[in-house]
Amino acid sequence: MATLAPQGPAAPAGSTCLAVTDVHHQYTSEPVLRGIDLAVAPGERVALMGPSGCGKSTLLLVAAGILVPTAGSVSVCGELISGLGSDERAAVRRRRVGFVFQFGELVAELSLRDNVALAAELAGAPRREALRDADGILDRVGLLALGRRKPGEVSGGQAQRSAVARALVHRPSLVLADEPTGALDRENAAAVLDLMVELVAERDAALLVATHDDATADRCDRVVGIIDGAVDR
Ligand SMILES: Nc1ncnc2c1ncn2[C@@H]1O[C@H](COP(=O)(O)OP(=O)(O)OP(=O)(O)O)[C@@H](O)[C@H]1O
Ligand SMILES: [Mg+2]
Repeated sequence: MATLAPQGPAAPAGSTCLAVTDVHHQYTSEPVLRGIDLAVAPGERVALMGPSGCGKSTLLLVAAGILVPTAGSVSVCGELISGLGSDERAAVRRRRVGFVFQFGELVAELSLRDNVALAAELAGAPRREALRDADGILDRVGLLALGRRKPGEVSGGQAQRSAVARALVHRPSLVLADEPTGALDRENAAAVLDLMVELVAERDAALLVATHDDATADRCDRVVGIIDGAVDR
């Protein structure tokens, strides 16, 4: 008789791009994440879905090493980040991870080109190489001609395409995106989603995207439902 594959916890950290194991988190006395297990394979695209307040953004911040979970472990590309100090976590994040926020969160004082180049420099590229890579990916998202403008001088869709460029310029292994099209109208949302998915695939990155949008989930390999801080099984 055939045996079913075991439905155990996350695969060993070495074989995954992201391994979240029995993660708990609380900001106050109220538990927000309650024992999350989640593994994302290299190149895999996973949508995180669930009601407002269920813990999607918190889980992404934990995966990025921006927040340290109250309990449990997080590994990115086999590096156990939950045991590291904030400087070491930032170093792993800058090299390995790209983050797309709902409202872009570009640096207002810097041009689009410098915003993108900064991410490449923080990942270790010399300035000249960072600018070359920034121009390359801004061209790819159709914004090379607007590279000298600041985020406040372009449309919301253009700013979000720049945010996608910034998240991918350093060829991260893992892209984390928190409602990346949530602030855009349908047409701009579709354009940003297309670019993000294409660039993630071209650059062999994995994607973990929190979304309320079925069109985004449809572009992923699988959907992980979160309910009240736990994976919906
Ligand atoms: N900095 C914080 N301090 C205290 N509580 C917080 C903080 N950030 C989030 N929370 C709480 O944690 C819970 C989960 O929030 P989170 O932002 O992760 O939800 P979400 O699933 O991303 O929701 P949405 O779909 O609305 O973006 C919520 O109850 C929220 O109020
Ligand atoms: Mg959220």
